[in-house]
Amino acid sequence: MAKSKAQYVCSSCGASHTKWAGQCDSCNSWNTLMEEGPLSAGPGKTLGGKRGKAIALGDLAKQEDAPSRTVSGVAELDRVLGGGLVAASALLVGGDPGIGKSTLLLQAAARFARNGLKVIYISGEEATAQVRLRAQRLGLTESPVLLASETNLRDILTTLDQEKPDLVVIDSIQTMWADHVEAAPGSVSQVRATAHELTTYAKRKGVAIVMVGHVTKEGQIAGPRVVEHMVDTVLYFEGERGHQFRLLRAVKNRFGPADEIGVFEMTGKGLVEVKNPSAMFLSERGDPAPGSVVFAGIEGSRPVLCEFQALVAPSPHAQARRSVVGWDGSRLAMILAVLEARCGVPFTGLDVYLNVAGGMRVTEPAADLAVAAALLSAREDVSLPQDGVLFGEISLSGAIRPVAQAENRLKEAQKLGFTAAIGPQGKATAHESGLNVRRFSGLAEFVEQVFGQN
Ligand code: TYD
Ligand code: MG
Repeated sequence: MAKSKAQYVCSSCGASHTKWAGQCDSCNSWNTLMEEGPLSAGPGKTLGGKRGKAIALGDLAKQEDAPSRTVSGVAELDRVLGGGLVAASALLVGGDPGIGKSTLLLQAAARFARNGLKVIYISGEEATAQVRLRAQRLGLTESPVLLASETNLRDILTTLDQEKPDLVVIDSIQTMWADHVEAAPGSVSQVRATAHELTTYAKRKGVAIVMVGHVTKEGQIAGPRVVEHMVDTVLYFEGERGHQFRLLRAVKNRFGPADEIGVFEMTGKGLVEVKNPSAMFLSERGDPAPGSVVFAGIEGSRPVLCEFQALVAPSPHAQARRSVVGWDGSRLAMILAVLEARCGVPFTGLDVYLNVAGGMRVTEPAADLAVAAALLSAREDVSLPQDGVLFGEISLSGAIRPVAQAENRLKEAQKLGFTAAIGPQGKATAHESGLNVRRFSGLAEFVEQVFGQN
């Protein structure tokens, strides 16, 4: 029986299917199956008995120099890169359309060019005139960045062969088109093929290549996950439309720590780095209000304080609402369950809203105690003192567990003028002298002592 040659590949998990379906049965994502050309080697085929050539093996102990890096001079960017841009590396910068990726990369390109790199900026989305106008508005016209508007990958690679740049920005990978793949630009096969070509080119020729990737509604870089696996570094540029703040977050970095963030502010003159993010995230805080607490967090290598806000109100619905912005929804469900089961504080019939102020997104479990405090404060309608911060992880048994870098958290709080802190049990630290630190090992004890009930 003749088999259909086409196959369908999930753009989210990369699983292949013989038939199209609305939902991928590997990862359960909806509308992610895309048609692809047939594979030259099917799953039944193997390399067979034919031998290849032997590969040279090296010793682990051989001395290697640290990769050569160039700094941009923008501290927020250099830190996220792990201490500067590494030569011969491939980077992917993802983010929602309109969040400021092109602006960020044009500004970065200009900085690197000024620091001596030969930089080419290739836009597949905007005409060179448009890019130039943006550069003028950003005051970057002095920088020796070379521009082109092109989507044909073959022509781009030929040009790079001639020009021998140190850094190339490709804006965006979804507009690029390799003529050996019969699929439209932006399709899974095109994105995968062009990203692969560019990544291998970066390694072979010692060029740093930055690819821009748009993010789908589901929050993934459009195109298969394999692109993220291919490149050395994946950065996400995120923020809320209504806010000026933008976070550049390293989600993967072969040359530096992941989870590092850089904070920027979008202004009329482009992106400006924010040197003190804690002060910025807390700048909108008003008078003491029920449901508002300050979490002493750590983002990458740096402490960042931010405000959690909770609202708890009787629910008019049969099923009470749970709504979260900037934190993990299932983690909220867990905290609510622990408060109910271990501390006897029920949230049945109450709508719960939780928000991290300033468009910040927190992923640390260390925020558990701050969330619990915000929920209790909102539920009891009592404000917590404004001069205190909280941190600590909550376990299912209702214990408050120690978290990493307690000292750095306290130091940052003290630096910003806080005088009190509530945290888990742990070693006494040198910096506590200036802060009134209360330590709890159980959530029930915390609820009783801070909110006077159980
Ligand atoms: P852009 O970099 O084009 O976003 P992306 O490449 O991620 O799609 O940014 C577009 C937004 O940034 C646009 O809404 C206007 C805003 N912006 C400023 O506020 N100030 C500026 O100086 C620039 C260049 C853009
Ligand atoms: Mg753009």
